[in-house]
Amino acid sequence: MLTKQDKLLAELRALVGKHGSGRPSLIPILMEVQEHYGQISDFTMQAIADMLGIHPVEVYSVVTFYAFLNEKYHGKFVIRLCRTISCDMAGKKAVARQLENDLGIEFGETTEDGRFTLEWANCIGMCDQGPAMLVNDQVFTHVTPEKVHDILEACRRSFGPSSMQKEGIAL
Ligand code: FES
Repeated sequence: MLTKQDKLLAELRALVGKHGSGRPSLIPILMEVQEHYGQISDFTMQAIADMLGIHPVEVYSVVTFYAFLNEKYHGKFVIRLCRTISCDMAGKKAVARQLENDLGIEFGETTEDGRFTLEWANCIGMCDQGPAMLVNDQVFTHVTPEKVHDILEACRRSFGPSSMQKEGIAL
C-alpha cells in the first residue's frame, strides 16, 4: 500500500515531468505544491532538491523569500493586513479587530476549517489608499470594518478573487 510520502513523491515526480528538472522549474513546482497542499514541508523541500539536483538550502531560501510560498499550513484564503505606518494611521487597528472577531482567530493563526489564515504584511505599496490588505494575491484598499465583513462573506461563499470582482467587492 502506498504511504502518504510515496504518494507525495509520485506527485512531485509528475510535477518535475511537467515542468522539467532544471533550476528554472523550481518556482513553478513550488507554486503547484503550495496550491495543492497549502504548505511546503521540510520533506517536500528535500525531495524537490533531490529531484532537481540542487542543494536543499536553495529550495528553503526560495520558500522563505516569497510570501506566496509557506512552510506552515495556510488556509485557502490568506489575508495579509498591512501594519506599516500609513495604514496604521488610516485605521488599521479597527480593521484588524474586525478580522479577528469575524474569523475567531488571531494574527498568525488559521481557522479550524482551513479556510482562512490571518497574517500581518509590511507595506504593500498602497500607502495612499490605506488601510490596505491582500486576500491571496488580490489587493483591497480603503478597507473598513464593514468592507471586511463583505470580503469575508464573499470568501465564505467559496468565491475566488475573480468572483469577488464580479460581485463588485473588489475595491
Ligand atoms: S503603509 Fe500600508 S501599504 Fe504602505
